[in-house]
Amino acid sequence: MTRIAIFASGNGSNFEAILRACQSGTVAAEVVVLLCDNPQAYVVERAKKHHIPTFLFDPKAYASKAACEATICAELIERQISLICLAGYMRIVGKTLLNAYPKRILNIHPSLLPAFKGAHAIDDAYAFGVKVFGVTVHLIDDTIDGGTIIAQRAFEYYGNDRNLIEARIHAIEHDLYPEAINLIIGD
Ligand code: GRF
Repeated sequence: MTRIAIFASGNGSNFEAILRACQSGTVAAEVVVLLCDNPQAYVVERAKKHHIPTFLFDPKAYASKAACEATICAELIERQISLICLAGYMRIVGKTLLNAYPKRILNIHPSLLPAFKGAHAIDDAYAFGVKVFGVTVHLIDDTIDGGTIIAQRAFEYYGNDRNLIEARIHAIEHDLYPEAINLIIGD
């Protein structure tokens, strides 16, 4: 069975959605560990509640990104992780991790890539006035929000309720991420 590590920095609703999909058998994989760079993040509480071990790390405690990722890699190898899911992870993955897990690191992004890359995708799409919003799950590479697209889902919206847009995006994310994991592990 595929052993997943989830990387997250914040709320963790996608962490929980992936976990539920694995535990219910919708996804034939196991969430083995949470990796988190922020001890205050709510995702840490979620992991505790579900008895998923958390590996907390402080990137500033390392001399370089490579040194930090070498420690992370050792943890992943020790736990026999074969798939990494970034879920609201607010750091750029470096060469050390990318080379250790080629084509095995997924990310979820709250826009229809390649539109609205970056950390404020929902606000940017809203400000632009688009009428089609959506979500993308993609493999990561050494570009920001680039990499092979695995799954996308869109919806049309002609109103101006930003909170509603965000709520719909998150609801889609929670279905789409497990579906994308199934596409990857079914290969
Ligand atoms: C999601 O909108 C995801 O697309 C983006 O960060 C957010 C994480 O939300 N990368 P959560 O922490 O999983 O609730």
